[in-house]
Amino acid sequence: VPNLSDPTRRTAAKAAVAVAVAAPFIQKVKAANDVVQYGFIGSGSRGQYLLGHMKGLDNGRCVAIADLVDENSAKGAEKIGTKPKTYRDYRELLADKNVDAVCIATPLFTHFPITRDSLDAGKHVFCEKSLVFKPEEVHALRAIASSKPKQVLQVGLQRRYSKFYDAAYQMVKKGLIGDVQHVYAQWHRGPLGAWRMKPKAAGQSQEMWELANWRLFRKFSGGLTAELASHQIDVADRMFESHPEFVTGVGGLDSMKDGRDVYDNIQLIFKYPKGQKLIYSSNSTNALCPLFGGERTQFGEMIMGTNGSIHITVGTDSEPAMALWYIDPSGPKKSGEKKEGAAASASLASTGKGSKGLPILLSKDEMTGNESFLEKELKFARRWLYSKGVMVPEEDRNPVDVAMESFLDDCKKGERPTADLEIGLSDSTSVILANLAMDEGRRVYYKEIDGMGGGPAGAAKPAAKKV
Ligand SMILES: NC(=O)c1ccc[n+]([C@@H]2O[C@H](COP(=O)([O-])OP(=O)(O)OC[C@H]3O[C@@H](n4cnc5c(N)ncnc54)[C@H](O)[C@@H]3O)[C@@H](O)[C@H]2O)c1
Repeated sequence: VPNLSDPTRRTAAKAAVAVAVAAPFIQKVKAANDVVQYGFIGSGSRGQYLLGHMKGLDNGRCVAIADLVDENSAKGAEKIGTKPKTYRDYRELLADKNVDAVCIATPLFTHFPITRDSLDAGKHVFCEKSLVFKPEEVHALRAIASSKPKQVLQVGLQRRYSKFYDAAYQMVKKGLIGDVQHVYAQWHRGPLGAWRMKPKAAGQSQEMWELANWRLFRKFSGGLTAELASHQIDVADRMFESHPEFVTGVGGLDSMKDGRDVYDNIQLIFKYPKGQKLIYSSNSTNALCPLFGGERTQFGEMIMGTNGSIHITVGTDSEPAMALWYIDPSGPKKSGEKKEGAAASASLASTGKGSKGLPILLSKDEMTGNESFLEKELKFARRWLYSKGVMVPEEDRNPVDVAMESFLDDCKKGERPTADLEIGLSDSTSVILANLAMDEGRRVYYKEIDGMGGGPAGAAKPAAKKV
């Protein structure tokens, strides 16, 4: 463990070694029988994004696309470029014997029926988050998936495939930031970036218009909690190595009054079993992100320990992922350790000088001792530039690519994916219960899911404790 009162280049170097994760991936050309033939269901905005990314993978081939909207199937087919067959009805795609696996990127309310039908048709399944929509679907999907142990089921929580998040998890596990009691996460969007109601197109039926705006209607969507918070709840679950014990919160529909009925702002507190908390906020009125020294907008997570904090976020296609480590000057004194100067007085003062964020390094910048003179100099130079904020360390691959490639590999090998059924169901349960907590204005306990929707506790009464 590095000397926490000395956040210098040396400290950063030592910490980087301590948290370094797997070596960079090397792409190989696959033999034809190593290629998984997959179908894609729902090639709207996310579907087209995923198909664009899957184009670069050599362990799968898209042979079919199903979408209710022909124009979307055509756009998806163009993105992947493998001339897939196109269908309107996903059940026809499932009947196609050439399809070994399916990727589902349809609206939330359709995830369960399409996943169920796909498993029943013998396919491996990748389904976008949030995995399921209703309590009864949590129980039903667990039962169906466990009766088909040879079929892979992966959920679209791509932070689980990020090297930065792996490094943060290792740092927490190894105690580098002390005792972690809180995670703060936000996804804030100003009025310009907030979800908008799409106007009705000429000739579009009411039904298809509602479907195009599915995110904004409760009958189809879990709103901000399902669409945005789900990713970040999963980060807290991973760092705390548990699902929450209960959740409470306040939701409002206060600024985006365009006919939607989902909340446009939510504030949630999830309490975890050891007293740890996830403090969550999502709004549609302001996009500032106070993390990363204000360098990014909208979203990120802060993992807070007694010795320091990690600010972390995934990248987009235009911005790299970021992970910074802020050493806490008021961290507890270890036996034999003498604090001096700012570090000593900061622990007594009501406010103290903040530390500068140190970049968290990945294995490519790790000193192995086997470098040539030049490689060593380059690594030192890069690390020095990172520490000065001139350069940011970057993941060598987008976690979305890693997630999709890993799904196809797991289909081939019959292995359990990293973001598996239980991770997806736990995340969906938290989403469902958080929405209930806001609607009913009470604490909702995680175990209440067992009494809902035909779960193992039958019709058990939910606890009615008010906050
Ligand atoms: N992992 C992530 O970071 C991430 C990011 C964005 C979206 N998503 C998820 O992806 C999913 C899709 O979101 P989107 O933004 O692409 O929505 P979208 O509305 O842009 O696309 C949905 C597509 O599904 C089609 N569709 C609807 N019902 C269908 C059915 N029964 N059969 C076949 N096709 C059907 C629609 O015609 C549309 O083309 C959601 O679950 C969302 O949460 C995940």
